[in-house]
Amino acid sequence: MRFSQDFLDKVRDANNLVDVISRYTQLNRAGGRYVGLCPFPDHREKTPSFSVSDTQQLYYCFGCKKGGNIFKFVEAMMGLSFPEAVDWLARQAGIPIPQEMYQRSEAVVAHAQERKAMAEINEFAIQFFESELRQSGPSAPVKEYLKKRGLNDETIKTFRLGYSPNDWEKLSSLLKARRAPLNLAEKLGLIRARSQGGNGYFDLFRHRLMFPIFSLEGSGIGFGGRVLGEGEPKYLNSPESPLFHKGQVFYGLSETAKFIRAQDQAIVVEGYMDLLALYQAGIKNVVAPLGTALTEDHAKLLKRFTKNVIVLFDGDQAGRDAAERSLPILLGAGVLPRGFTLPDKMDPDDFVRTQGAEALKGKLAEAPELFVLILDQDVKGYRGTSAEKVTLIDKMAPVLATVPDSRLRDLYVDEVASRLGVTGEWLKEALAQSRGSQRPGLRTANKAVEAVPTMESTPPPEVSIIKLGGKRPKAEELLVNLALMKPDYMRLIVDLGVVQFFAHAGLREVLQRAILIHGQMPNEFDKLTALLVSQVDLSEVLFLHLENHLENLNLEGAQKLIADCNRKVQDAFLKSQSRQITTTLRGRPAAEQLEKLEQIMNMHRQRRDRGSERDPNSGAFGS
Ligand code: UTP
Ligand code: MN
Repeated sequence: MRFSQDFLDKVRDANNLVDVISRYTQLNRAGGRYVGLCPFPDHREKTPSFSVSDTQQLYYCFGCKKGGNIFKFVEAMMGLSFPEAVDWLARQAGIPIPQEMYQRSEAVVAHAQERKAMAEINEFAIQFFESELRQSGPSAPVKEYLKKRGLNDETIKTFRLGYSPNDWEKLSSLLKARRAPLNLAEKLGLIRARSQGGNGYFDLFRHRLMFPIFSLEGSGIGFGGRVLGEGEPKYLNSPESPLFHKGQVFYGLSETAKFIRAQDQAIVVEGYMDLLALYQAGIKNVVAPLGTALTEDHAKLLKRFTKNVIVLFDGDQAGRDAAERSLPILLGAGVLPRGFTLPDKMDPDDFVRTQGAEALKGKLAEAPELFVLILDQDVKGYRGTSAEKVTLIDKMAPVLATVPDSRLRDLYVDEVASRLGVTGEWLKEALAQSRGSQRPGLRTANKAVEAVPTMESTPPPEVSIIKLGGKRPKAEELLVNLALMKPDYMRLIVDLGVVQFFAHAGLREVLQRAILIHGQMPNEFDKLTALLVSQVDLSEVLFLHLENHLENLNLEGAQKLIADCNRKVQDAFLKSQSRQITTTLRGRPAAEQLEKLEQIMNMHRQRRDRGSERDPNSGAFGS
């Protein structure tokens, strides 16, 4: 069951974003909006870059790039799901939850209670494992093992390491005695019901060194349990549960986040032991994924703390593959990944233990960009044949396409070009071709879209998410934002018909949707941006209009800017068209070349005509 549109509108209208945000940070009026220090705890700032629009009911931080509407704010600030945020806001405003949604809200409450109960069970288990470790004698296998691995008491205490005893039901019976909900302990993967024949539960972690895994807020969400010595599986891990999603969590981050922020750098290692070894050696800005490949969520999470990421994977084929897979994910998230390949068969733990922390710090300081590292890895044994070049270009094209910063992308293109012994220009064309032949179509895949407040006439929530990554021409980005600023600007841009010339498919789609929705609901302009924000993958692109230099525009200035952008977009369009025609011309008969040339001339003429006819400066607009 979903909340009805009416209900969502009512909840949104009954709450004021400025009031809600004012509970977390002091907002001051500045021009047509409010500004203040960013209220999000992961973005501590001294000069205000957080901006709230009262009329549009939108917020945006120019520092950490978080933004959205009131539902989004409550979700992000309080760590709630969308329905929980709606529920909370409805209660704030004293709006009763309609009868038919009652069940849903029950479900929301039940869900929250279940999570709380699960967190309590995990905490109980952590304390149990900790106490088992404390109580084990000095020559107990777990103590011997810890000694062998060189982990000291302080590290054990900081990361709350523990020991699961060699016993089938010690934890189960303790939980039972406490009347803890055993079905939840089972969901958490701590215990399991005995199959037919037996009754009761048995413990799943037995005779293992226990590594509790914490959420960013420091509550226990799962465990990794290492066998003491050799044995299979080496690590037993908690299953996915409502508390625990492996692809979204880093081991150690709740402890190391402060060091990552302070040093503005994060080191990614593969294993629990690597993280602890580095931390103990004084290199504390470390994180480790949980035996899974790095995900987009991981990359986004890291970027909340720093853009400087060093990938330090094991010196074996698996480590090299993992580093290579992480490259497009990190680049795509807009972080600056560097990398360092450890000597053969070594992992970071081995390295600090044998060579020392200073040696590792030295290596880290001179770690090359991950892109270059992977590239060099790929061109090893490369002999320079054409076939090799094409293979490498096809491989690099999708990686390069993920780099959102065009300057960085150009630098990388030059790196590849120099390895291949070709010019940057040639390579750019080749890359464009390679991309064209690989991409089935420009349509983005349908992602699950959260339920967001929508106007009745807008596409249903399964509408595809528009991708705004890649190189965005400034003029197109500006036009989209100007169109979202004022109905007048929107009309001007619609009249120019410039949207059809946009080179960036995502920006084109956003503007087309904006025009369509605005046409259908001309009186709801204030809600337009809030609506579009939920239909794009990079919402910050739609917030440029909150920036000072745009906000201070007067009508005349806006007209000039729009005309200017229009010209740039059309010029770029013509240039790319001409380029396309000229490339197809090479080696064609003279008559055909002449014909095409004429075509180009025509296009330029058209552009000139269109310019003088519709140029807003000529007085066609402004009544
Ligand atoms: P490694 O095999 O490199 O383990 O796996 P490690 O952390 O270096 O541990 P030691 O030094 O051998 O004791 C890297 C990570 O992969 C996951 C764990 O998260 C581990 O830290 N893994 C590995 C598992 O989940 N299960 C396994 O059986 C093995
Ligand atoms: Mn290891």
